Amino acid sequence: MKINEKIKEKLVLALDVETFEEAQELVDILYPYIGTFKIGLQLFCGFGLEIINYIKDKNADFFLDVKLHDIPNTVKNASYNIIKNGANFFNVHASGGIEMMKAAKEGALEASGKYNRKKPLILAVTVLTSISQQVLEKELCNKKTVEDLVIEFAKNAKTAGLDGVVASPKELKAIKKELGDDFIVLTPGIRPLWASKDDQKRITTPKQALDDGADYIVLGRAVTKAQDKIEAIEKIYKEIEGKI
Ligand code: C5P
Repeated sequence: MKINEKIKEKLVLALDVETFEEAQELVDILYPYIGTFKIGLQLFCGFGLEIINYIKDKNADFFLDVKLHDIPNTVKNASYNIIKNGANFFNVHASGGIEMMKAAKEGALEASGKYNRKKPLILAVTVLTSISQQVLEKELCNKKTVEDLVIEFAKNAKTAGLDGVVASPKELKAIKKELGDDFIVLTPGIRPLWASKDDQKRITTPKQALDDGADYIVLGRAVTKAQDKIEAIEKIYKEIEGKI
């Protein structure tokens, strides 16, 4: 299949696996199709630098989904090291506040200047999809609706100079409307029509998410658990191109 580069750069693959070998195998099979590999906390805590270096050797990009949330100085230094180690993008919790998000950007820019990296891309996590309205009110003591808080946090992220947010497909249009088309949205919860929903509740198809304005879509089990991973990713390309 001839790879459509415009589609490839929007595809992020979640390497949610237990072992380095499994991650390695996914990268080996899928790197021609995937713009960015997402390294989450599980893999990062297990085999951080090993997997980072493996992906770098394939000339693929990677997104460190480590959701930083700490005092500004610590976040600044962690962000510096993330960029130093060659990540193109990473994320922080918007609930850490504007000063913390600004510190993330400062650390990232400092490292990208020093090590001559591409412009860093920093996204904010607004409200985790695991937080219900009830938990927000009772445990996090916040009276806002989840939807309003998502927009509020997205605005704070923009004020801090971050590039965008991670958001569910359900929030995509509202964020683009409020924050503008340039504000990047990366959406998980992506399922082609033929794939199992797994434990995801608010899902959308790859094509729909891109049509709604997603800048990046996160593909996970729909591809990584498919028996034939190449067939699955090629089907997704065709679906996005409108061929199926
Ligand atoms: O396998 P699946 O497509 O459900 O994987 C989705 C990926 O996106 C996982 O890495 C998950 O942690 C991440 N994610 C999510 N929902 C969020 C934020 C991140 O599913 N709200």
